[in-house]
Amino acid sequence: MLKIENLTVKIAGKEVIQDVSLTIEKGETMALLGPNGSGKTSLIMAIMGFSDYSIVKGDIYFNGKRITGMDVDERARMGIGIMFQRPPTITGVRVRQMIELIKKEGFEIEKEAGNLKLKEFLSRDINSGFSGGEIKRSELIQLLASSPQLSLFDEPESGVDLENIALVGKVMDRILKKDDGNMGLIITHTGFIFDYVKPDKGCILVGGRLHCVGDPMAILKTVKKRGYEWCITCEGEKLKGKSRT
Ligand SMILES: Nc1ncnc2c1ncn2[C@@H]1O[C@H](COP(=O)(O)OP(=O)(O)O)[C@@H](O)[C@H]1O
Ligand SMILES: [Mg+2]
Repeated sequence: MLKIENLTVKIAGKEVIQDVSLTIEKGETMALLGPNGSGKTSLIMAIMGFSDYSIVKGDIYFNGKRITGMDVDERARMGIGIMFQRPPTITGVRVRQMIELIKKEGFEIEKEAGNLKLKEFLSRDINSGFSGGEIKRSELIQLLASSPQLSLFDEPESGVDLENIALVGKVMDRILKKDDGNMGLIITHTGFIFDYVKPDKGCILVGGRLHCVGDPMAILKTVKKRGYEWCITCEGEKLKGKSRT
């Protein structure tokens, strides 16, 4: 399981995550919502271990092991994988070479590339000249190939056309269900992806702070209807014993 305790994260001198604690149990998927700039990407980059995101306070545990301070590659080997919101272009490395490097035994490149409409992309440099949707599908095939136990999805449906959202959603669901106990953390603005992947719980990040953990569909509905600021107030009311959803 993933356990985050009182995590505070700084980037470029600014605290972007403040005192966040959350747990994802084995087999659970959590949806993470929040306005632009609220720290969602920073949170998952810190879980993955990118060194730009420095941990000021708190700890991260994965399957009972403290991973705070571990390198990204070590965390990847332990079974944590990420689908980036905006991955870099890697000139000189082809998509096929990357998949060969990270794939688990039994992964069928041709078949899966066909399934994700990526056959012609296997021989291209990673993300070089790819459209928004192509980048997302390329990210997804890499995640599928490496088959992590914990998948961190950063806005998997953004830039993906309506026709391909089903494709992306179904592959995400396969990744999360491939092995017993797989876990997921999904950042989304729209919730379109919930037609294909059912999160067990949801949470809201506003201004780097976690404000609510609860039923993901209820949270999404409330945010759509009333906005994030209201959601924070709602939590305040609940604490006073006056629940209103
Ligand atoms: N490399 C960076 N340098 C300076 N500020 C950054 C950097 N990366 C992120 N930030 C800032 O941190 C805040 C949180 O960003 P981010 O985690 O990307 O938010 P979200 O994913 O919720 O939109 C934003 O105000 C953003 O501008
Ligand atoms: Mg982001």
